Amino acid sequence: MDRLFVDLGNNSYDICFSDSFGSLPDELKKINAPKKLLIVTDSNVKGLYAGEVENLLRGVGYDCSVYAFPAGEQNKNMEAILGICGACIENGLDRKSMIIALGGGVAGDMAGFAAAIYMRGIRFVQIPTTLLSQSDSSVGGKTGVDLMGSKNILGAFHQPSLVYINVSTLKTLPEREFVSGMGEVIKHGIIRDAEFYRFLKENSDKVRSLDTEVLMEMAKRNCGIKAAVVECDEKENGLRAILNFGHTAGHAVESALGFELTHGECVGLGMEAAFYIAVKRGTADAETLRDVEAVLAEYGFALKAKLPPAEKIYSFMQKDKKKSEGKLKFVLPVRIGEVMQTSDVSEAEIFGAIEYISEQ
Ligand code: NAD
Ligand code: GLY
Repeated sequence: MDRLFVDLGNNSYDICFSDSFGSLPDELKKINAPKKLLIVTDSNVKGLYAGEVENLLRGVGYDCSVYAFPAGEQNKNMEAILGICGACIENGLDRKSMIIALGGGVAGDMAGFAAAIYMRGIRFVQIPTTLLSQSDSSVGGKTGVDLMGSKNILGAFHQPSLVYINVSTLKTLPEREFVSGMGEVIKHGIIRDAEFYRFLKENSDKVRSLDTEVLMEMAKRNCGIKAAVVECDEKENGLRAILNFGHTAGHAVESALGFELTHGECVGLGMEAAFYIAVKRGTADAETLRDVEAVLAEYGFALKAKLPPAEKIYSFMQKDKKKSEGKLKFVLPVRIGEVMQTSDVSEAEIFGAIEYISEQ
């Protein structure tokens, strides 16, 4: 079993990389998982993988049930959290019990948040099944829900006890969701690791044809980047904010469009917007922006989108929690592998960047 240790003191855990669910029981045993487990998943993933995981765990003696909420970002809200917590009560989960988050980032963020507040906090395991969740959201302990158009505005830091990645689940993922996940993967290369960015450039055919070996390598290198950042700054007091590269504009576009585009598609647009601002300032070069756009296009991203007026997107930015003392925080690229944080991006620069990513 390929694994990575995320070193967070008392909150440390392993990320396991596999091409099946077969080793899950052994991994649960290693973390002393209790007998009572609740698998929290969404209505799509329930029919795909919940039965297999439930049977596997029941087969080795776990008292395991499944609760599914309606799939989709529009259901990432407090009502769904109450549904999950209600299922915890109905299934008799106590302080020692454990939630298993099975699904994409929405399932992971919500199951993790329910685990953070149920009985003031119980343990949970992440079994991410989208590329986005395998490459980003399952690692690092950010959990939460949206409220009134503000993304992830309610939440808690609650680290999982284990992340179990089965890359084979990506085979059932719709193409568009795979592309979405690549947004976060490419982001990791740009912010921290030029070598990894090159790997993505050179292996796009194998990644896109879901070559298991290449997917495993990509998953491991990618999680290594995310884990290293989180290890330096678990609660986002400084360095961790670089993971928000592409997210200031991306989240605003996502909300302003009513979640019509996927999270990763919006992060792709947000990264272009951030690059555009940096190029205009002369702190990043235009050739690098073109290279990043070529990589995004190679992985299936649309480089422009039909967007609402810039004023609307800007007003969603004002609701973003990445604001400090009234100022918007941006992560701007310097070169591949290096970014900088700033809160001095002007309204005019933002409007220019929105125009740049808008389909004319
Ligand atoms: P998602 O969970 O909605 O999954 C996307 C779609 O794929 C859903 O319809 C889901 O049912 C389906 N699906 C999941 N696994 C599948 C599989 N193997 N085969 C077929 N269909 C499958 O969305 P996502 O893109 O995984 O995650 C996006 C969410 O993650 C957003 O809410 C975002 O805010 C959050 N996020 C959180 C963090 C974090 O650090 N916590 C980081 C990045 C993103
Ligand atoms: N996805 C941003 C973070 O985990 O901090």
